[in-house]
Amino acid sequence: MLIKRRRGWEMPESSATPEAVYLDRRTLLRAAGFGALSAVAAGLVPEVRAQGVEADPTASLYPFQRNMRYRLDRPLSEEKDATTFNNFYEFGSHKSIAGAAQALKLRPWTVTFDGMVEKTMTVDIDDLLKQMPREERLYRFRCVEAWAMAVPWSGFPMKAMVDFARPLSGARYVVMQTFMDPKVASGQRQTWYPWPYTDGLTIAEATNELAFMVTGIYGKPVPKQNGAPLRFVTPWKYGFKQVKSIVKVTFTDKRPVGYWEKLQSSEYGFWANINPQVPHPRWSQASERMLGTDERRPTLLFNGYGEFVADLYKGLENERLYA
Ligand code: MTE
Repeated sequence: MLIKRRRGWEMPESSATPEAVYLDRRTLLRAAGFGALSAVAAGLVPEVRAQGVEADPTASLYPFQRNMRYRLDRPLSEEKDATTFNNFYEFGSHKSIAGAAQALKLRPWTVTFDGMVEKTMTVDIDDLLKQMPREERLYRFRCVEAWAMAVPWSGFPMKAMVDFARPLSGARYVVMQTFMDPKVASGQRQTWYPWPYTDGLTIAEATNELAFMVTGIYGKPVPKQNGAPLRFVTPWKYGFKQVKSIVKVTFTDKRPVGYWEKLQSSEYGFWANINPQVPHPRWSQASERMLGTDERRPTLLFNGYGEFVADLYKGLENERLYA
């Protein structure tokens, strides 16, 4: 049967995803059934979210002091939009996963540092957070699907975490991995996806001042649907690099292949830097829609962060830097 494919930004938001699943009819049909279930659960979001926040032993540390070096060119997105329109495939291949994500248990939660490090370590998330230089940053965020938001993230520079992990001098990449628990994350029972979710970047990118580890948003602990208790944010790259609910950080000398690149390497690559002039194979990246509004803005090269990161890519012009 022939399936008529529309471009990403012509689709209803509930179905616009970076997914290779559009190429796979069987997956698409299963995802549709899945969506109906979670839409019901989504009605429970505010209540269960509040419980999750209370249970967080580091909740009293918030709000963190804002670092004024990172400024926005647009208003902040509404908290309700940023926390109810999500991509978190572990809980479903649609946007209304916030209700289903409440099944994730956040404590105890540990993060393991392994691979090319002086010593493999496993640390409790609350102990890690207390040792890190905490701050709040206002960042633009751009999904590969051409929606965008502006968010106050709380956390610490990734460089501080890399220093903490003490990688060996031969390490060239760092890879982050999401939890794996198909009992709570029904998406992980869909075995055609390459679980667990991972993605990575070069050590030079990871130690760039913009790379940020997130534990909170809007002055509070980050909700489960946005990747609690620890997620990664890299504002000059598409959102799919920004691994949620991290349990492992691995240092390596081999370039990693992330979740989306494994699924569909013709559409998603390692670098994933934002560039309005390089379209996704199925839609334009020239503009973006701000979440919760009808406003479209022109997409900015490196999402407007070129002054911080453009130098990282000198000499790499022959690489596929913008996918
Ligand atoms: N991390 C995990 N573990 N699973 C995911 O499905 N989706 C990615 C990224 N991190 C994803 C993930 C994508 S495609 C995007 S756009 C962002 O998370 C969405 O982050 P948000 O829901 O906080 O807006």
